[in-house]
Amino acid sequence: MSRFGVLYRAEHRAALFAHSAQVDVLEIVAEHFLDLTAEQRDELDVLRAHFDVTVHALATSIGSSDGVDGRYLARIAALVDYVRPLWWSDHLAMTHACGVELGAFAPLSRTEETVAIVARNVAAVRDAVPGRFALENPATAFLVPSDTLDAAAYLARIAAAADCELILDLENLHADAWNVGTDAGAVVAAIPAERVCEVHLAGGRRTRDGYVDAHDGPVPERTWALCRAFCRRCVPPLTLLEREAALPPLSNLLDELDAARAAAA
Ligand SMILES: [Fe+2]
Repeated sequence: MSRFGVLYRAEHRAALFAHSAQVDVLEIVAEHFLDLTAEQRDELDVLRAHFDVTVHALATSIGSSDGVDGRYLARIAALVDYVRPLWWSDHLAMTHACGVELGAFAPLSRTEETVAIVARNVAAVRDAVPGRFALENPATAFLVPSDTLDAAAYLARIAAAADCELILDLENLHADAWNVGTDAGAVVAAIPAERVCEVHLAGGRRTRDGYVDAHDGPVPERTWALCRAFCRRCVPPLTLLEREAALPPLSNLLDELDAARAAAA
């Protein structure tokens, strides 16, 4: 069964309910609901009543060699227990190191050492938070010189060693092709498709210095091409439009969702 959804933004709430038949799944950002206040619970109750939900977190820091933060995971566990999402996820990156908050997704070295760290941290995540867990490829600003694995092999090794699912963000991959020379087509061709529970689509923009994965524009043709290529291998269980900023009317996103459905047909 394949589903199609969008990143939830409160600005779209009324339009989403008006068009709920065209949206199967809402992705909610964990950090927007971590306090589980009465107001947040009310909002989650209404969303859950009309849509399936996934929870997307930002600060698990799955690549930190000093481990994952148990207090953060306890808050995620409470949210997951309340929402009962299809699965929850975070990024294959590092957001803290030795107690220092980095304020961004720091890229990890693509090495067997990182694979072992991530596998250990995913095991700790599983102990703390029940349910399915997936890791997403973030866009990377630079490659770490000590890399020994290419992008495709790295994702495959992570999924196998951690025995976890993957979110394939095709726009992040598109940005990596511009900025660090990733062979995006090779990743789409080689990623273990059976591990991919979700594909993300979004758009960014070119600047003089490269490509910004701002998720603030329509899905560009190169990202659509990656989507079609992946769909020729397999139809992902969930395809999600991840528009984060410069929100257009929901109808624009619904048109893109129809295009995603056509790519998967
Ligand atoms: Fe994404």
